[in-house]
Amino acid sequence: MAEILTGQVLSFVADPFVAGPEAARIETDGAVLLDGGRIVATGPAGALRAAHPGVPVTSHGRHLISAGFVDAHVHYPQTAIIASWGKRLIDWLNTYTFPEEMRLADPDYAATIARRYFDLTLAHGTTTVCSYATIHPASVDAFFAEAQARGLRALTGKTCMDRNAPEGLRDTPQSAHDDSARLLARWHGVDRLSYVITPRFSPTSSPEQLEALGALWAANPGCLMQTHLSEQTDEIAWVRGLFPEARDYLDTYERFGLAGPGAVFGHAIWLEPREKARLLDMDCSLVHCPTSNTFIGSGLFDMAGLKAAGHRIGLATDTGGGSSFSMLRTMAAAYEVGQLCGNALHPAQLWWLATQGSARALRLDDRIGNVAAGMEADLVVIDLASTPAIAQATARAQDLWQALFPTIMMGDDRAINAVYVAGRRV
Ligand code: GUN
Ligand code: ZN
Repeated sequence: MAEILTGQVLSFVADPFVAGPEAARIETDGAVLLDGGRIVATGPAGALRAAHPGVPVTSHGRHLISAGFVDAHVHYPQTAIIASWGKRLIDWLNTYTFPEEMRLADPDYAATIARRYFDLTLAHGTTTVCSYATIHPASVDAFFAEAQARGLRALTGKTCMDRNAPEGLRDTPQSAHDDSARLLARWHGVDRLSYVITPRFSPTSSPEQLEALGALWAANPGCLMQTHLSEQTDEIAWVRGLFPEARDYLDTYERFGLAGPGAVFGHAIWLEPREKARLLDMDCSLVHCPTSNTFIGSGLFDMAGLKAAGHRIGLATDTGGGSSFSMLRTMAAAYEVGQLCGNALHPAQLWWLATQGSARALRLDDRIGNVAAGMEADLVVIDLASTPAIAQATARAQDLWQALFPTIMMGDDRAINAVYVAGRRV
């Protein structure tokens, strides 16, 4: 059934890293017409209501209506170990991550965590996530079943690891290929779900496994492929030892056909010049995970430099290496990392990264990540005065960006006033 939502509507007509803040459109007395799970029209509230008499109207007052957040790199199995103290990447994986991922061998536990994870992400205004599962096929089933029941657009894949992981968390080149192929056939393109071919990272995959997954991707080029790249210096040194013949970290994927359009690389902090050039040439996606990079002590992502060079970049929480489920908190961390690199990202750039940028990184920007006619109706309604601290700061604002920035820097799930998934309020 059709419905009109009114409020302040934020949309993008271009990339604000290219076109500046004018790439964003703010309709102060705006409206969005939803029907059949899609956005049918947007515009001034008066005109839209007059053009569609009889369509019920839900007023969101002065709240901001935006595309729902798109989180381009997460590990839903790590929900329960978020904010675990005191480790860097490799120790953090061994101490906290692998023992917890082991527990998802139990399909009931996997279902419990999937349910909890989507409760949390929706409460934080995130309507699409691209997640890693565990090595267990049932962890993929649990994720997709939960997302499907909620009508979500969602992506995941079985995480493949055949070495440098504990007993019980290792597959083989053959089983990784065959399980992934089976899951891909079962889920990819069903409703709003997409399968993603998912080698965890080079240290936990043998060359034979990377080769097998490269072959699977070549046979299924419509899928994305996701993995980790150049997150920490100790990790890069380890990769160099494991793949002495490779030119650099990216080459450990590239030589097995695991780089190209549709490849989504998490972190990408410590890139060599050759890697940057190849990633750009091949139109790979990079995903910035700022709360993770500060929490695990990984380093500073060069957003300004990589965007200026033309890279395809999304934004992500990387839960549970990241320390928050909130894309608002993630935008704040991206701002802080930018400041440490000498670049103050504009609120329009931060908001674009959390919506369209991530949708572009996942090659879904023709469907999600913007408020425009024809897009799927995944929306978030933001209260720009959700706490006393934010309200008093935003009260002084001279324009929408000043009004929005305190929510970016200090906001959390309390700022999420409503969430729509495929046109349905959840
Ligand atoms: N590198 C390999 N696996 C992981 C993971 O689970 N989290 C993060 N942050 N980095 C990784
Ligand atoms: Zn990750």
